[in-house]
Amino acid sequence: MDNKFDVNEEGYYGEFGGAYVPEILYANVETLRKTYKTILQAPAFQKEYNELLSDYVGRPTPLYFARRLSEKYDCKIYLKREDLNHTGAHKINNTIGQILLARRMGKTRIIAETGAGQHGVATATVCALMNMECVVYMGKTDVERQHLNVQKMEMLGAKVVPVTSGNQTLKDATNEAIRDWCCHPANTHYIIGSTVGPHPYPDLVARLQSVISKEIKKQIIEKEGRDYPDYLVACVGGGSNAGGTIYEYLDDPRVKIVLAEAAGKGVDSGESAATIQLGRTGIIHGAKTLLMQDADGQIQEPYSISAGLDYPGIGPMHANMVRQGRSEVLAIDDNEALAAAMELTRLEGIIPALESAHALGIFGKKKFKKEDIIVLCLSGRGDKDMETYINYELQITNYNL
Ligand SMILES: Cc1ncc(COP(=O)(O)O)c(C=O)c1O
Repeated sequence: MDNKFDVNEEGYYGEFGGAYVPEILYANVETLRKTYKTILQAPAFQKEYNELLSDYVGRPTPLYFARRLSEKYDCKIYLKREDLNHTGAHKINNTIGQILLARRMGKTRIIAETGAGQHGVATATVCALMNMECVVYMGKTDVERQHLNVQKMEMLGAKVVPVTSGNQTLKDATNEAIRDWCCHPANTHYIIGSTVGPHPYPDLVARLQSVISKEIKKQIIEKEGRDYPDYLVACVGGGSNAGGTIYEYLDDPRVKIVLAEAAGKGVDSGESAATIQLGRTGIIHGAKTLLMQDADGQIQEPYSISAGLDYPGIGPMHANMVRQGRSEVLAIDDNEALAAAMELTRLEGIIPALESAHALGIFGKKKFKKEDIIVLCLSGRGDKDMETYINYELQITNYNL
């Protein structure tokens, strides 16, 4: 273990994490645990992974100084442009790595869960690239609100299975993916899309996303003459874009971390996905973490306008960092996120994903000093959310900067 915020040998981040899996999956998870670091660190893997990141995904993504946004909030704001990746979000950093891992483990079939559809599209994309069978589970609510991504996955050759249990969102899609994995443990690799799930998934996904902070470290030297910002900002669903953004700075006390979670219709409205503020310790999808649950320990159905943040848990890495006081969390509601998306669009000419708009929402809530250097992970682009934005048209029409 490199530092106190990293995972330990037993798969825990402080009190959170672990691998709580059904017996049928024990062998799969154990094999993954024993082999993932060796495979990831092998020079041949690194070469193939890095070549694909640069030539196929389009990395490094720019670190863009957002001049007009900075003027408005009177501080220095840089955007890490993960929206410019192939397929439109950070998710592909992880799926490229995991498909290479799956091939090296001799797997022939890939399954995934998806909320916003970005992870589903990124998985379907790498399966097309590597000629592997692909099945994506997606809640029916999300199939409807992100249907452009469903059409993309199908065009890429994936089978999209709409899930009708629970409130038909990300949690329910993940349940079904785990069920599928239990039925096909021998030939199937489950590409989890965030820093969630049983150990070693949170660490595996964080490592594959750490390319984001590795690039920030180099790019901020060119822009500001030092290799760290004062603040790192990211939205958290399960925590993968946030995990990648902070990975190189986990225990660097010069860098403050601000996470944005989805308050939905308000933290106390009963309709939110503000897991960190509302959650208590529990187990979801194989990990002990903060979890929204009722008095009897039943998981509470989350709600957010943003499909990618509509999840009742949070990666164990983030649960621990918040518990230790390392990260600060702000809850951004639907309207604040929509307003922040409009603001970025009109000030910078960039239409962000609704998830990323939650990260942008922090500027309306937190005051920074003029000299503060802030790097915000713009995790994805807004194409998939156009319908939601258009339905918000009244406010778009009346929008005045
Ligand atoms: C663009 C975008 N940003 C953020 C997220 C949230 O996921 P994570 O917390 O794993 O980064 C998603 C999830 O679908 C997404 O599509």
